[in-house]
Amino acid sequence: PVFQATTSAPVNIACIKYWGKRDNTLILPTNSSLSITLSQDHLRSTTTARADPIFSETKLWLNGKEEDIKSGGRLERCLAQLKKMRKERIEDKNPNTPKISEWNLHVASYNNFPTAAGLASSASGFAALTSSIAALYGLNTFTPSEPAVASPSELSLVARLGSGSACRSLFGGFVAWEVGSSLTGEDSLAIQVAPQEHWPTMHALICVVNDAKKGTSSTSGMQRTVETSALLQHRIKDVVPARMKAIEKAIKDKDFDSFARITMADSNQFHAVALDTAPPIFYMNDVSRSIIALVEELNRVSLAKTGHLVAAYTFDAGPNAVIYTEEENVKQIIEIVVRYFPQSDTNPFPDPFKLFAGKQ
Ligand code: DP6
Repeated sequence: PVFQATTSAPVNIACIKYWGKRDNTLILPTNSSLSITLSQDHLRSTTTARADPIFSETKLWLNGKEEDIKSGGRLERCLAQLKKMRKERIEDKNPNTPKISEWNLHVASYNNFPTAAGLASSASGFAALTSSIAALYGLNTFTPSEPAVASPSELSLVARLGSGSACRSLFGGFVAWEVGSSLTGEDSLAIQVAPQEHWPTMHALICVVNDAKKGTSSTSGMQRTVETSALLQHRIKDVVPARMKAIEKAIKDKDFDSFARITMADSNQFHAVALDTAPPIFYMNDVSRSIIALVEELNRVSLAKTGHLVAAYTFDAGPNAVIYTEEENVKQIIEIVVRYFPQSDTNPFPDPFKLFAGKQ
């Protein structure tokens, strides 16, 4: 038999941002976070994993290019954890099962969006890697008669070892990553707050302001913030816990106004915390700031007219904007954004935007 599995995982975009680790090796965060996972058909990573006793070493290809596997690095930690689960939960219990956990792996992963776009490729990448190997190892087969050997939340612990934000991409819809309190990390896992179908009218518009690779990586940026920012301590203690509760309620109630206010406030505080880092980190540029101004203006007008907000912006560790809005406003918001930032002749996407109009 051939031991091979292919699975996909979508990108997720945080509304309450993860920024800061209390353990750099286990990737344990300093605060809880919450995101929306985009739908499978837009930005996703697809990974094929194959185990074979003839493979002389474990190898990894990203978008067709072979990558070095750093000894003791994040990928190795994910693989070790999955092999341990396979061995303890399946092979040790069933002596006749092939011991594929002892075989080397070939893993190939593709993104259906440009990796250089500065979009969260590590999140979908490590989530797809975890789920493909879990499938190969028979850990996540869901049948009505047979419960999965490892639950999605348990697998989120593995994806987290690859990249913090990746743990949230193992679920669709609205997903929380709980900060946890254990030093060994077993309670720092992702849970689904609500499935996509709960609020199907929620859309995410991805505005690619700049697809160059970002200046300061999330990993090193957040480490510097933890070491130097006093504002981060205030955020961790006094702000995020209440915001997590409030946004979960907003999602349960499908209350777009509260959802939007919290999302924008949290994006802005994350960038304030980056600025409070020594030396300071600037992720947004002039175009990012003009998107903020545009959305704030749209909301001001809409509030005066209808009493409700229409859109929420959020920015990760780069200048690209994500605009959350409800279905009925998508067309109008795209039109306005494209009008403000006109399309060039050569670029099929509006310039300086590449706009992925993705359903969540
Ligand atoms: C700003 O998950 O990329 O997107 O855990 O070091 O791999 P590592 O960092 P990463 O950080 C993401 C930070 C963020 C906010 C978020 O997605 O919550």
